[in-house]
Amino acid sequence: MTKRLLINSKYDFFKKTISVDGDKSISIRTLLLGSQACGKTFIKNILLSEDIINSINCLKKLGVKIFLKKKNCYIYGKGLNGFEYKKNIVLNAGNSGTFARLILGLLVKSPYYIKLIGDKSLSKRDFERVISPLQKLGANFKVNNKKTLPLKIIGSSFVNPIHYFENRGSAQCKSTVMLAALNSPGETVIKAKKSRDHTENIFKYLGIPIIVKRNKHNDEIKIRGQKLFKSFKYKIPSDPSSCAFFVVLTLLSKNCELKIKNVNVNKSRIGYIEILNKMGAKIKIKNKKKRFGEKQADIFVKSQSNLKKINCPPNLNSNLIDEFLIIFLVAAKANGVSSFSNLGELNKKESPRLRLGSKLLNQLGIKTKLTKDSIKIFGNPSIKLRKNIDIKNYYKDHRIFMTSVIAALVFGGKWKISDIDSYKSSFPSFLKIIKELGYKFKLV
Ligand code: S3P
Repeated sequence: MTKRLLINSKYDFFKKTISVDGDKSISIRTLLLGSQACGKTFIKNILLSEDIINSINCLKKLGVKIFLKKKNCYIYGKGLNGFEYKKNIVLNAGNSGTFARLILGLLVKSPYYIKLIGDKSLSKRDFERVISPLQKLGANFKVNNKKTLPLKIIGSSFVNPIHYFENRGSAQCKSTVMLAALNSPGETVIKAKKSRDHTENIFKYLGIPIIVKRNKHNDEIKIRGQKLFKSFKYKIPSDPSSCAFFVVLTLLSKNCELKIKNVNVNKSRIGYIEILNKMGAKIKIKNKKKRFGEKQADIFVKSQSNLKKINCPPNLNSNLIDEFLIIFLVAAKANGVSSFSNLGELNKKESPRLRLGSKLLNQLGIKTKLTKDSIKIFGNPSIKLRKNIDIKNYYKDHRIFMTSVIAALVFGGKWKISDIDSYKSSFPSFLKIIKELGYKFKLV
């Protein structure tokens, strides 16, 4: 039987400074680009989570030498398309949708079929979204009718430069095509709905020929491929998505104050701070600086009562796509009815998060109105739990687990939460920080 976490503690005072683990999106991108650079790349403060370890193991299977020394990572890149292709390579991406999709972009020249597999949750997720543009670039696939893992990809010797419209607001789809374009002799043009722009930023930082034109709703990205680039040094900032759990814990507690250091505050990642401040929080971002093409800063948050409802503008959705579950908790405690719409993509994550987020709130006694792609949350500012809550995290979704832990700490009651190892895919220090803040829990 898998272990469960037991929480029966509502503890209300901390005034602390913490650091959270390195950014997952940037860790994966620096690994992938380090594998394509010429020479030895050095990455500091890499995230040591299961998603990253799986990513490193896959790159090693493609012949890339990678060494880890605590949070320092050394990658020996052999230039563009410098993988050592062999027959019968199987890459296991584990739980990581980001790595599984992005690596396909770098395999567009593979002379052999390469098999890509993942865990149970990843094997339910859609790959049509990257298969279709990669086919236009010249790759071929063996895949089931549902277009899910396991699949096999084989590349072609000529990678077509394409015009591609990314209309979901998915950074994973956009980045997969951007990585594939590195191997194309012409100019690839991507029109993309707004989404996190780390791949654009790191391309610029590495001197890869890229032009980004920002328009109101879409961005236009032009990439000229087949240009070798040098190995690099990079220090990864803390992950704003991991930070969000502690921002909300502080906000919904009483008399607490928290400073979180050196967080990635790229605008496309901190939509949740914008939303929380609209709900009445007074979260401050200070000491901003630009490093390695990304903005980082310290985040200051204090406990706050009298939070008010939000009508979340859908054009912000991609800027807080990984934070909706934790924002739903805030809406549960806010005054009034909050609404979130155009959220179909949320049901396509590690679990159907829109549906499961609603179910979690219902377990807390919060009324919701759920459709396929929207939710209304009827907030109750005096919510206080005295009952037993049992969270069966069937999908082993890391964000469902961490959101449930935060709910237990702020709303009280007796909680049993499975699957206790899930948080390790993105945020291995999560429970350690909970302890550092003074909370108690038991693993049984
Ligand atoms: C990610 C993009 C997002 C996000 C995921 C990480 C990335 O997915 O949910 O956790 O690093 O590009 P989509 O771009 O598919 O929405």
